[in-house]
Formats: sequence, C-alpha cells, structure tokens
Amino acid sequence: MKLWGGRFKREQSGDFLAFESSISFDFRLARADIEVNRAWAKMLEKIEILTDSELKKILTALDDTQKDLEKGRLKADEALHEDIHSLIEDRLFTYAGSVAKKLPAGRSRNELVSADMRLYMRERIEYILGLIKGAQRSLLEAGTRYSGAVMPAFTHMQKAVPVTLGHLILSYFWKLNRDKKFFRYVLEETNIMPLGGGAAGGTTIAVDTDFLMSELGFSRSFANSIDGTSNRDFILLFLEAACNMQVHFSGICEDMILFSSEYFSYLKLPDEYSTGSSLMPQKKNPDFFELVRGKTGRVSGNLAAIINLLKGLPSGYNRDLQEDKVSLFDTVDEIEGILKLFPAVFSALEFDTDAMLKSVERGSVCAQALAEFLVMRGMPFRKAHEIIGKIVSDNELLYRKMSEIKVADMKVYSELFSADVIPILEPAGALRQLATPSSPSPMMFEQQLRLAYEALEE
Ligand code: ARG
Repeated sequence: MKLWGGRFKREQSGDFLAFESSISFDFRLARADIEVNRAWAKMLEKIEILTDSELKKILTALDDTQKDLEKGRLKADEALHEDIHSLIEDRLFTYAGSVAKKLPAGRSRNELVSADMRLYMRERIEYILGLIKGAQRSLLEAGTRYSGAVMPAFTHMQKAVPVTLGHLILSYFWKLNRDKKFFRYVLEETNIMPLGGGAAGGTTIAVDTDFLMSELGFSRSFANSIDGTSNRDFILLFLEAACNMQVHFSGICEDMILFSSEYFSYLKLPDEYSTGSSLMPQKKNPDFFELVRGKTGRVSGNLAAIINLLKGLPSGYNRDLQEDKVSLFDTVDEIEGILKLFPAVFSALEFDTDAMLKSVERGSVCAQALAEFLVMRGMPFRKAHEIIGKIVSDNELLYRKMSEIKVADMKVYSELFSADVIPILEPAGALRQLATPSSPSPMMFEQQLRLAYEALEE
C-alpha cells in the first residue's frame, strides 16, 4: 500500500521504487514503530478523533502486527513498501480495515521516523551503557589483581618510569568512564519527542503532546517543529561517542598486541580468543585486538559519512536523511559486538609479571626519581638532570640494572648521594616515593581504586 498517490497520473517505475525503499535496512525499527502507533492511536481517542471502539480495533491490529513481527511473519516487499512505516500501516489496514486509515491524522512520516529512531536508539544506548559498565568492571578486577605488578611506563615507545600494570589498566578504566558520560549525554539528546511537529510546521489537529510524551517515556519535547522533525544531532552525537570509544579501544588493543609479541612477552594470548595461521604451525595471533583496532576505521568512516550527509542540508526534512540509518546501525552492531566480548577476552589475558619486572629493572627507569632525590637535597633540577644523564651514560645503565651500581660510585658524581638513595634504585621502592595523587604509588593507587569503584556505580 502506498501512503500517497492522489496527485500522480502515472505509476512509478518499479526500479525506482526499489531504489528509494529503505525497508531492507529500516525493518529493525518495526517494534518502535508499533509502539509509537499505539501511543498515537490512544492519543487520537483522547482528543476524540477515534471512537473507543475504533481505538480497540486499531490496538488489536497493532497487537496482531507485533505477534507477526515476533513470529517472523512480518515480511516486506521493496516494490510495495517504501519503508517500515508503510509496511506497518499496510498491515494495520489488513487487520483493522478502513478504520486504520484514520490513524495517521495530523502526523507526518518525518516526525514518525524520528520518533521511531529515538525509541530504538534509547534502548540501544541503555544496553550499551550496561555493556560499558561490564567492560569497566573487568578492567577494575584486572587492575586490582595486578596492583603490585611493577612494569615500565612508556613514552615514545621507550621505557620511561616505573608504574604498575594495575595503574596502566586503570588508565583504560578512566577512558571508558568518559565514554559512559558521553553516551549518557547522547541518551539525553535522544530522549526528546519530535511528535506534534508535523512535516515541518506542526498540525491543525490538537495533538496532545504531553500525553504522547508520558506514554512513550520521552523526557521533554522540541520547542520548534522544524528542528524537531529534521534534527539528527542524536545520531551524529551517537556516532561521535562511538568513535571516541573506538579510539580508546584501539589504543588498548594496540598495547595488548605489542605486549603479546615476543619482543615484549608481557602477555600470553588466551587460546579461546586467538587464531592460528593456515601456513605457519607455530603461530598464535591476537585477532580480537587487531579486529577491534581495524573496526575503528569502519566506525570512524560511519561518522564521516553522517557528517557529509548532514553538511549543508537545507532546513526541514530531506530524503537524504533516510541514509542516516545505514551508518548508524552498522556502528551500533559493531560496538555492541566489541563490548560484548571485551570483558571475557580481557579477563582471560595472562600477564607475565616476572617478564615485566625483569624489563623494568633494566633501562634506568629510576633516573627521574634519582634526579629528584638530588633536588630534594638542594641541587637545581637542570644540574641534577645533567648528572644523572652522565651516570646513565658512563655506566651504560640503559642496558644494566641501576641497582647494580654502588652508592660510593655515585658519590663520584655528587656528594649529595647517600645510603638513602638505595630504595629508589629498586623500581618497587621508587614507586613508594611517589608523592602526587594520580601517581602509581601503592597508597595513591588504593585511593584511585576507591574512586574507580565509586565511578563504576555512579
Ligand atoms: N524512510 C524515510 C526515512 O527514513 C521516512 C520518512 C519519509 N518521509 C518522506 N516525506 N518521504 O527518512
């Protein structure tokens, strides 16, 4: 059934109808479309456009349509159905007869598609927020488990200072915590009701928007019908939040890929989440992490597609907007897939804390703390920096253990050195000297863990 046609003299070309139809990708809005229609029908009865018995017929037809959907009996045909809204309207006519023709009074598909998308997205975002929490929980557990595992932190991919693996893992936690906040904001911008906006300029029918809002659980409605019917900020924001999260995940995954390589050997890949090579029998590859990294390209491509779709569109609804779903749904599926697997994969990782400790013992990671030791005994920092640089270079400390050099040898470089320096030469000892709140000192880390557990439940 076509929703329009009176003003046309000739039939549309079949190829064109298939081309312009969105039913192949907007079918997933079916449940939301039924829900919006249900609320709309009740509202029309309330403002006396439908009688009580007409409403009952329509509601029964909506229930039957929903059953068809659940049983897989709701089938679409591109030549007959322009989109999911036409398909549902068609089915309602089949079940309820001519009374179904009263239902679209005062309503445009422009506001309907926006309302459907908002309901659908609201559900997805709530689900995604739950998944993010699960991923955060797995990071917190691992962070706690490895709170005492000393390892080097890297800058420029060169060993920098001692930290703990727990500290590194919590840095991932905080990234996801920002993603959670971003998605919550997206949820707020999604849960706004466009109904009552008409095609662009409202309707002469006194649509009860308060009733619709409470029926559909929207938290507010648009103040401007042009904005309400055509605005796709919620989609743009969702894709931005997803992209942001993928940037985070791809960085985490890059760390895991590096750590699992033989050159680091910090990490054993779990068989359950790795693959082998068809040619090289010895291989075990970090495919989960590589795919997440790779999918970041796809998710950021979807964002670029929507930015290009929206850029320079004239005010009001334009058919271009139909294309928003392709990129959006793809991103929804991809990030849900990643988030669903992430906690299991991360919890299955076996970190080799001995290998990490060995690697932190070499490479002068305590050099900064040694320079600061001299500063605390009155030496200007630039001079201390120079002296420690010399000790590192003269003793080839980039390749040796710092703890192998004697205090007496150090005294040759500065009289300020004393036996108090010994704890700093051991990475675990150096960690205990750290004084700032965000540092990986054991005491500060306890505090960080507390904050993280609070943030998880916030
Ligand atoms: N399938 C359309 C979309 O997704 C629905 C709105 C169509 N509106 C219209 N006036 N043709 O955007």
